[in-house]
Amino acid sequence: MALDSRPLPKFLTEESYTYRASDPIAASRYTSEDFAKLEREKMWPRVWQFAVRDEDLPEAGDFVVYENGGRSFIVCRRDDGSIRAFHNVCVYRSRKLRTEDGHADKFVCPFHGFAWKKDASFDAMPCSWDFPHLDPEVMGLPQAEVGCWQGYNFLREEKGGPSLEEFLAPLPTHLKRWRHEECTTVVRVAKQVPSNWKVVMEAWHTIVTNPQLLPFTGDCNAGYRT
Ligand code: FES
Repeated sequence: MALDSRPLPKFLTEESYTYRASDPIAASRYTSEDFAKLEREKMWPRVWQFAVRDEDLPEAGDFVVYENGGRSFIVCRRDDGSIRAFHNVCVYRSRKLRTEDGHADKFVCPFHGFAWKKDASFDAMPCSWDFPHLDPEVMGLPQAEVGCWQGYNFLREEKGGPSLEEFLAPLPTHLKRWRHEECTTVVRVAKQVPSNWKVVMEAWHTIVTNPQLLPFTGDCNAGYRT
């Protein structure tokens, strides 16, 4: 790091390395459906996942369909300005409520017409006299936790575990100088890669393959956090 052509932020020079072994791991982690299934069951429901930027939901009623790991969520702006995330599935016969982003005052199931408000509470059903056994009080759409950091809204399917701040630490401190809360999305680029997600979650190639990013990082900076 001392060889970098620009001065480094102090936090990149702080030593916090703990050896956690570096033996090769089985390549099957990247190819095995059984391993991916375990990730879907045990990992994805318990981690915070970035879903939408604030500017993706400018008005009350705006919503985004966020999907990952076999789950589908509606992330919606409520009338009071807060953001909620709930399972994108009808609690009556499991029909998906929405397939695309959009704007809605309520979410009406396209199969039998049960409807939910944008705070995930149950709204109404056709022919309600035929369903005296259904209690609207317990028919809300199951919700995920939502947390926000500098305009990035994250969701976590299962409640409990570290808060979003604890989960992200120490990155918010490191990224503070980039003032993401003052930024807005200009363009969104996506590509579907037919591979396990871990294959594309790698950044060590940046220095050689994406040197245009170096003004925002550095020539040779690497920090290890435990
Ligand atoms: S499946 Fe949703 S109302 Fe019937």
